[in-house]
Amino acid sequence: MKIFLKKLYLKWKFFWVNLIYLTYTPQAILYSYKRDRADRNISPLQPHSSETGDTPGKLLRAANTETGTIFYFEKAELELTFLTDDFVRITWKPTILPYPYGIERHDWEILEPILNQVENTWTVTSPNATLTIQVQDEGHLKFFDHQHQLIREEYPPEKLNEQWIHRANLRPEEHIYGLGERSFPLNLRLAKEINEKGEPTAEPKKFRMWNFDAAGQYSPGSDPMYLCIPLYLGLHEQGSYLIFYENPHEAIFQFSDTATANFSGGALRYYFTLGSLPKLIENYTELTGHSPLPPCWALGYHHSRWGFGTETQVRETYRNFEKNDLPLSAIHLDIDVMVDYQAFTIDPKRFPDLKRFIQELEVHGVKFISILNPGIKYTRHNQMFLQGQILHAFCKYPNGELVVAPVWPGWTVFPDFTHPMVRRWWTRQYLYLLEVGVGGFWHDMNEPAAFIAWGDRSLPKVTRHFVEGRGGDHREIHNVYGMLQSSAAFESLCQSRPHHRPFIVSRAGWAGLQRYAWVWTGDIESSWAALRQTISTVIGLGLSGIPYSGSDTGGFQGNPSAELYLRWFQMSTFMMFYRTHSSNNVEHRTPWIYGEPTLSILREFLKLRYRLIPYIYTLTWETHQQGYPPVRPIFWLDPTDSNLWDIDDAFLLGNALMICPIYEPGMRSRNVYLPEGEWYHFWDDQKLTGSQTVEFDAPLEQIPLLIKAGSIIPMEEEKTLILHLYPTRERNAQGLLYSDAGDGYETSRIDQFQLQPSFTSATTNQLLPNLLAATESDPIDSSGDGMKENGNSMTLTWEQQGDYAFSYQQIQLQLHGFNLQKAWIDEVEVSCENNSIICDRRFQQARFIALIS
Ligand code: NOJ
Repeated sequence: MKIFLKKLYLKWKFFWVNLIYLTYTPQAILYSYKRDRADRNISPLQPHSSETGDTPGKLLRAANTETGTIFYFEKAELELTFLTDDFVRITWKPTILPYPYGIERHDWEILEPILNQVENTWTVTSPNATLTIQVQDEGHLKFFDHQHQLIREEYPPEKLNEQWIHRANLRPEEHIYGLGERSFPLNLRLAKEINEKGEPTAEPKKFRMWNFDAAGQYSPGSDPMYLCIPLYLGLHEQGSYLIFYENPHEAIFQFSDTATANFSGGALRYYFTLGSLPKLIENYTELTGHSPLPPCWALGYHHSRWGFGTETQVRETYRNFEKNDLPLSAIHLDIDVMVDYQAFTIDPKRFPDLKRFIQELEVHGVKFISILNPGIKYTRHNQMFLQGQILHAFCKYPNGELVVAPVWPGWTVFPDFTHPMVRRWWTRQYLYLLEVGVGGFWHDMNEPAAFIAWGDRSLPKVTRHFVEGRGGDHREIHNVYGMLQSSAAFESLCQSRPHHRPFIVSRAGWAGLQRYAWVWTGDIESSWAALRQTISTVIGLGLSGIPYSGSDTGGFQGNPSAELYLRWFQMSTFMMFYRTHSSNNVEHRTPWIYGEPTLSILREFLKLRYRLIPYIYTLTWETHQQGYPPVRPIFWLDPTDSNLWDIDDAFLLGNALMICPIYEPGMRSRNVYLPEGEWYHFWDDQKLTGSQTVEFDAPLEQIPLLIKAGSIIPMEEEKTLILHLYPTRERNAQGLLYSDAGDGYETSRIDQFQLQPSFTSATTNQLLPNLLAATESDPIDSSGDGMKENGNSMTLTWEQQGDYAFSYQQIQLQLHGFNLQKAWIDEVEVSCENNSIICDRRFQQARFIALIS
């Protein structure tokens, strides 16, 4: 009876939700018609065109200038500017350069390369010869590394009216990754066009660069997505490279025997870098910006739903988390808490004393995150609309008429974030919500999305934008719109809370979004295929410079079974944005609705996430410094092993942890190909050798989790720092711990741990008398320098930098893979229990006698 009533309720709710959507239909029809009329003179991008465009013509001469090396062709000029020895900017001229919204660093010391000519072929070599570019007649470019291996070969660019077509050769074995957010295999070369029946065809996928609202639900194979970045990495037998086109116009990318980038307009300006994968990402994020350190609380678990109507419901939810012993860091409030879906409103009827309520949440360690859409309700009763009108803040048609399109508030207008004054105005709007303590903002619908009856789900392409005074239209601005909204929010949070780090999540974005916001992967369907897809999507985002992302755990649209939710949750535990969210026409998805044993297993994973925070937080510091995405493809560890290039059903969290999600119903074991080296199984410390496929059990309580031997993983419980030591067979391991107050910009510290076999002087044995007494085997002189390796002993050294006070009360050293016999902390013997030792102060050295297990 109860189930029947529940089903009836859901059906009734679904009916109402659909009816709500239907109410927008007349507006959507009107708007679609008007948009098409406005855009009638804009020809759509023709990816299939067999027409060839105009090429640069004969190469006439070349010269080094102050801005780079210029090659003069009959009909064009090519400028190569070395930003570093392995990083070059390439600009085809004449052109109107893009407004550099994506670029963070402009102050490069321009290097003077070595220019050479042999007949019709010119070469430019970077000062330290890391990169050589050969320029041939007609604009044919070849890129060589320091060993003179060919890394990439480009054909002369073609200009077809406003369009640019840029092709490069792809090697048969070459793999391609990136393009921002994609719902395809990680290696984009495997992606195929999908036919009307939803089946893959033989034709290589044409990826569209146009931020796009999936409007409620998408499945694997959907394209385009919310966040496109014209960047890709190529990986082949000779090495790897990254190419980023600084052009936000709509484009189509296709990877077959050639890589084709077909831009509808704008400039052909791009950046090329080669070298190791970390180096590629380092160069790219040096150019487009590093992510700031997030507040530490953001690494915890976030709970969200579309459908939290009132304060009472939110209170009931966080209390249930507590009652069920489930840690929780943030609750996200969706559009239903607004007044008539108007931006920056929270209905006082639903939250009668918001400030006090937010304080109540804070007491329980929970942040209040508010949704925010960029559109402003088009009505004279709305103050923001009136203010914006006075400031001429909203986007207009070329004839000066406001662009008005239906979104949640009904008829809606859109701030033009390309105007600095509009950004400043927008920045101020956050203030009162920040004043009452809102913890962060969740930017939705910022592609920008509009409700349509047909055609493109956004603003008319002719929509005018200020573009910092130079003027432009939506064709150029569409893809950067969401990022600019986030930049205004970031500014606001930095200004008004200078002692706190901003937390912003954005659905849309472009190159550089990582400077301001995290990302979630939108309205993914609730299915096993979608769970698996999330792995590639999140890794691909990371390789595109967006390090912090995650999916709606369990899927946005649909009611996942207990098993699907559990498996998705297990995967999300190791992704940076750890949030459950769901649509308003599905059941409120919380860990407890599934009963046991699901609830207990979810709790274990939640707690594991919180225990891992020191490790994850240290990764955010690395991301901040070097741009590396914390969630990495498996081939990150060994790009020379081509067996790893296609793995997209597993991922790394940092270099030490390999996560192998379970992505099929009933799957209770799975195969995993382990990269080279030694590995430990997280759950039972079983030791494994890499470069082979291993089958792992995966009962509901576990997913295969592997630890790279040689790692020291910092974890925490209460006030205890637990260093998990996973030595290699040679008894080596290392690890880092970054810590600070978890928020703000005060002092920090780095603790560096290194485990090595102990050495002692071969003649005197003076260093470790106690230790040697307990050693079972004779010292081995492996170093050949008179220092003898001490059979079963190892030494952990601890070095520290930085002024932040060490905040743990206890340190536990937990040894894996070896049986601990005896231990000394700074030469004082301590007791060992369960293969671990505990001490209550910092030390310089810990020494162990341990036998390999
Ligand atoms: C679309 C977003 O993708 C989704 O997460 C949100 O719940 C709905 N808009 C309603 O705001």
